[in-house]
Amino acid sequence: MKKTSPRCTFVVFLLTLFLPLRTFAEGGKDSPLRGEMEAINRSLRLINRQYADPAQKVSTLELVATMQKHAETARTLTPPKSEKMAAADQAKYLDTFHKDLGALLKEIGLLKQALAADKTDAAKAEIDKIKQLEDLSHKELGVGGGSGGRKHGGPPAPGP
Ligand code: HEM
Repeated sequence: MKKTSPRCTFVVFLLTLFLPLRTFAEGGKDSPLRGEMEAINRSLRLINRQYADPAQKVSTLELVATMQKHAETARTLTPPKSEKMAAADQAKYLDTFHKDLGALLKEIGLLKQALAADKTDAAKAEIDKIKQLEDLSHKELGVGGGSGGRKHGGPPAPGP
């Protein structure tokens, strides 16, 4: 049997080192933005569970503050999908990204007001609006899959 050359072994070694980096850059699997998004998701899920319970008002308001902090941080980050775009497309994509996160932050502010004033119905309406914003924005940006599409963490939707 032919022996594998040391050079070939070295190339395989280099590939093993760099492939995970490539996956990270392309898919944004573990991107900082994704981390912020997962945190927003976690907070909203808990808020949705407890917003109507007056005994948990302080904790619910803390969760809203946490969600706001993560949305603010998300706005400072670069979506991985935009990184390889041509300048004009990239500018348009980032514009949408910033506009949508601005809209999200506005709704988070309104949710905070509704909860502080014990307006449970208004709070529910804001929670629903935030979920709609998520779906709309993810569709616009071609991430996540939106409602009826893939659920978070599933395989990517077929692209163009
Ligand atoms: C409305 C403004 C929003 C914008 C502009 C936005 C943008 C994005 C982008 C660009 C990604 C892809 C990140 C990556 O590739 O690493 C992403 C992923 C994600 N977003 Fe958002 N998002 C928004 C709202 C939300 C909301 C409200 C939630 C949850 C309640 C959410 C949950 C997630 C989750 C869990 C992921 C990661 C998994 C996936 O790709 O589906 N997002 N978002």
